[in-house]
Amino acid sequence: MKIAPDWTEYSVIATGDGEKLERWGKYTFIRPDPQVIWRPARPLAGVCKVDAVYERSREGGGRWKYFSPVPEQFSVSWRGLSFSLKLMGFKHTGLFPEQAVNWDRMSRLIEGAGRQVSVLNLFGYTGAASVVCLRAGATVCHVDGAKAMVERAGENVRRNGLDSSRMRYIVDDCFKFTQRELRRGHRYDAVILDPPSFGRGPSGEKWKIEEGIGDLMSLVAEVLSDNPLFVCLNSYTTGLQPGVMANILRLSLPAGARIDSDEIGLPTEEGLVLPQGCTAFATFD
Ligand SMILES: C[S@@+](CC[C@H](N)C(=O)[O-])C[C@H]1O[C@@H](n2cnc3c(N)ncnc32)[C@H](O)[C@@H]1O
Repeated sequence: MKIAPDWTEYSVIATGDGEKLERWGKYTFIRPDPQVIWRPARPLAGVCKVDAVYERSREGGGRWKYFSPVPEQFSVSWRGLSFSLKLMGFKHTGLFPEQAVNWDRMSRLIEGAGRQVSVLNLFGYTGAASVVCLRAGATVCHVDGAKAMVERAGENVRRNGLDSSRMRYIVDDCFKFTQRELRRGHRYDAVILDPPSFGRGPSGEKWKIEEGIGDLMSLVAEVLSDNPLFVCLNSYTTGLQPGVMANILRLSLPAGARIDSDEIGLPTEEGLVLPQGCTAFATFD
């Protein structure tokens, strides 16, 4: 398993009974985590001061319950980059810290390429991966179906003093947008995809990973430039194992692609590693 490196402002303090207790900068939150089916060493609420807990509701969804004031917007930094956070519905904060393993590898690939690299970031969310690629010197086309997420990606680019003109901000369905890019003759040296299990494009286009990933990966193979650098496919979908992700890349990408895949995870202060999904990478000579 690959473990996210270099976090100083984020940590998983403790885990148990379906939840994790995390430190995000100055604040501590308890959130549900479906992987945590073990008992806690001691009740999470008693480990340290807790600022907010995400409570699931029986009707589905849930809400944040606050024990102390948490600003509407706060931030954490990673290797000199600052990411804006907000406590949102669906237990989100706007950042997936375990993705730092992938940010690290993307940065090294882009910096080591010795040429201008263009990146297509599909399901790009609040833009952490886009910001990392921009800082490494790439141009980025950031695509997400939710306007609010694309706006937050722009905010993350600006707060890091990066050149916004090197990023295209697209609110669109990832499948339709990639089809249009192909028709327009646009090609990319690297493609990042972090598709959810279920999702919707801006016009209600339905995304279901097991039904859509095959066709989307065929488009990704076509939208790659003649000199591709990498494809990174990440997933949090339960049951989608590293071997499955590797097969998806192997069957859709050109024969010369070197493919590897692994679980990714976060270290916890209890001495555990908390699994947080899988990533498959394809790199090219
Ligand atoms: C789990 S997030 C991705 C995480 C992110 N890449 C990261 O590492 O921080 C999934 C994103 O996919 C977007 N999404 C879902 N279905 C979509 C679709 N059909 N087209 C475009 N975006 C979609 C959602 O708006 C959401 O922002």
